[in-house]
Amino acid sequence: MLNMDFSHRIVIETSQAEWVPSPSGSVFRKPLERAAAESGHASSIVRYEAGASFQSHPHPMGEEIFVMEGVFSDERGDYPAGTYLRNPPGSSHSPFSKEGCLLFVKLNQFHTEDNSRIIINTNDPEGWRPGHGGLRVFPLHSFQTEGTALVWWPKGERFLPHRHYGGEEILVLSGVFQDELGQYPKGTWIRSPHLSAHHPFVTEETLILVKTGHLI
Ligand SMILES: [Fe+2]
Ligand SMILES: [Fe+2]
Repeated sequence: MLNMDFSHRIVIETSQAEWVPSPSGSVFRKPLERAAAESGHASSIVRYEAGASFQSHPHPMGEEIFVMEGVFSDERGDYPAGTYLRNPPGSSHSPFSKEGCLLFVKLNQFHTEDNSRIIINTNDPEGWRPGHGGLRVFPLHSFQTEGTALVWWPKGERFLPHRHYGGEEILVLSGVFQDELGQYPKGTWIRSPHLSAHHPFVTEETLILVKTGHLI
């Protein structure tokens, strides 16, 4: 078990973490949270080397992926950097990458009734919406209390102090995210528990992937 007590705040600067080999010799992982060795709830940064493939595998409780770099592929298609994917409970696939890729992967964390397969290319400028202040938001998914979005922060933006009902999970995709508790450069993963609070801001242009309401 790794970081499975959701009442704890966890910050991992993933660029500083060690790569761990996976059962495929050309796929490597940086584990963030994990219930068991090769099954159950797991969140990781995953790297496919050029030409890497991973064995066919099921996702009994779904798989959520954000492609951070390169091009990720499976038998259904090719997914370039900026693609958000949801493979629902009961799905399976045989993934690979011709040129290599870097992924954020959350396995087996779907609500049982959340059965939609979603593929969103966030490079589409049409998906962005105005947010609070100068923020821009690209909604990716919502189900019951859970919401997932990209949030773009212009240089110098400061958000309101707020509390997280159901917790908050952030992956910093570019720039440096900040709050009163610290500074989080590109690649940092922050998991904040149910009813935690903070006052975030940035001093440079910053892009984050945010999930809220799922840690209850
Ligand atoms: Fe998968
Ligand atoms: Fe927050």
